[in-house]
Amino acid sequence: MERQLFTIYGATGQQGGALIRYLLKHPRFSKIYKLRGITRDSSKPRAQALAQQGVVMVEADMNDPDSLKRATQGSHIVFAMTDFWLSGSREIETQQGKAQADAAVQAGAQAIIWSSLPRIGLPNFDSKADVEEYIRSLSIKAAFYRPGWFMQNHLTFSKPVEEEERGGGGQGDRGRCEAHTLVPLVDNEDIGKYLQPFLDDVEEKYDGVGLTACSAFVTPVHMCEVWSRVTGKVVKFEKEGGDGGGVTGGGGARGGDGDSWYYGEGSRKAMEWTLAQMEEKTTSWEEFVERVEGEEAWFR
Ligand SMILES: NC(=O)c1ccc[n+]([C@@H]2O[C@H](COP(=O)([O-])OP(=O)(O)OC[C@H]3O[C@@H](n4cnc5c(N)ncnc54)[C@H](OP(=O)(O)O)[C@@H]3O)[C@@H](O)[C@H]2O)c1
Repeated sequence: MERQLFTIYGATGQQGGALIRYLLKHPRFSKIYKLRGITRDSSKPRAQALAQQGVVMVEADMNDPDSLKRATQGSHIVFAMTDFWLSGSREIETQQGKAQADAAVQAGAQAIIWSSLPRIGLPNFDSKADVEEYIRSLSIKAAFYRPGWFMQNHLTFSKPVEEEERGGGGQGDRGRCEAHTLVPLVDNEDIGKYLQPFLDDVEEKYDGVGLTACSAFVTPVHMCEVWSRVTGKVVKFEKEGGDGGGVTGGGGARGGDGDSWYYGEGSRKAMEWTLAQMEEKTTSWEEFVERVEGEEAWFR
């Protein structure tokens, strides 16, 4: 049987890259799909590394709808995503998302997976929710992957900072995040595990599904406790800007039965439902910290 074409936007980035790694090593999906990755620059090292693994890298720009139409020709399934932070614009992100969806429909793709988010009144969330609404109006099977807070953020912009180096900055708070806020944590590497049920049954059961993609709701205080235990270094939570009362020691996770602010009402049930559909177990925060502990550049 000829393999079906799976086109992946953001192939050189976190979500698209992790999905490709999952598909390439998956016992079923690696036999079903051939992979095409979209990039603006196929000469960059990450794009070349993917090409060496057999991913056909195609150049296109989300700001140029015609290039997307050319790049998605022949696709059976499309993973679509946008990077809000490059433009910082709700309008641009919405246009980019809609252009990817239009191109998938024009290509005659059977299905699209949109990296979405719930509508919570923030531009980087609401633009994705707008695109989700648009896709729901189109004639294409769809799944809406709604990732939680990436654990990988703590390898980059939310990386712990040694007290003496901090100079008043401290480890960053995440917008509305307080010491005991329930943060939905997702390991980016798990993206394929969340999408597996949809990939196995695009036609019926999971068409239109919204996936609340996180392994648990965890407070920053609990995250710090796990960090401290696994690394042997004392990690404390401090709200960005140090508005007082942010720094805290022990205490453990609280609000265990609550919903997460990030997903809103009903989110615990939605997360539990999502996890119950999946055949593979997701990565916990503790497992993530154990995995990356010792990796250079994580904990300095
Ligand atoms: N951090 C979090 O906790 C979190 C949680 C939920 C959702 N999100 C959302 O995740 C998104 C970022 O995803 P990510 O971290 O996977 O991205 P990323 O690692 O920053 O990579 C961005 C990808 O987008 C591609 N890209 C950017 N502009 C493009 C354009 N004009 N045309 C074609 N491709 C383009 C890049 O490809 P090339 O450079 O190769 O062209 C790259 O592969 C943001 O929208 C954010 O709101 C983040």
